[in-house]
Amino acid sequence: MAYMGDEKFWDSLFEKRGDKQLQPEAALVKHIDLFQKGSVLDLACGDGRNTLYLLENGFDVTGIDFSQSGLDRLRQFGTIYGERLTLQQTDLSEDNCLKTLGKFNNILICHYRVTKQNLRTLSDHLSENGILFITGFGEGHVCDERIKAEDLIHQSDIEVLLETFDMIHEERVKDDRGYFVTEVFGKM
Ligand SMILES: C[S@@+](CC[C@H](N)C(=O)[O-])C[C@H]1O[C@@H](n2cnc3c(N)ncnc32)[C@H](O)[C@@H]1O
Repeated sequence: MAYMGDEKFWDSLFEKRGDKQLQPEAALVKHIDLFQKGSVLDLACGDGRNTLYLLENGFDVTGIDFSQSGLDRLRQFGTIYGERLTLQQTDLSEDNCLKTLGKFNNILICHYRVTKQNLRTLSDHLSENGILFITGFGEGHVCDERIKAEDLIHQSDIEVLLETFDMIHEERVKDDRGYFVTEVFGKM
């Protein structure tokens, strides 16, 4: 899926999507009760199927992605939420790219692999008792040309996060789309 680095790929994919949004990620819907009330930082939000679901459920959301087409599309769908929706174009492959952002009650990362350097900064962007919710393809997923081994959530990522977080919930599910992991952390 060229998860990382290919801005043009994502721009053209989002430009081709029609009027309808995709459904929010099943693991997010299932575990929404684990989120703290308040705000969410949605990293690599794309065109915002999860951002919109969170807005619908009363959260204020800041969505970050490098695809301007994805952000533009999300802005259109999210107009009704006014100032509860904030969008920022950011290249998440750059070190310390989150440094201008403040603190949130929750961070969501869905189908994107954050660099180890940036993983180490996530706790600084969560308020007390903040929740980090990560879901996506994990080690064990069968890779192909679109989804490569380096795109998967690795055990080594989890180990980095356990330096600053407690694990609250872990789930591994195999379905017809592949092998999914959901990792939920609480700020220490
Ligand atoms: C598989 S999509 C997931 C989108 C969204 N989280 C969802 O679940 O619908 C991956 C997203 O990562 C974004 N992305 C890829 N590389 C990026 C980078 N270096 N910086 C910021 N966003 C990036 C893409 O633009 C795309 O929106």
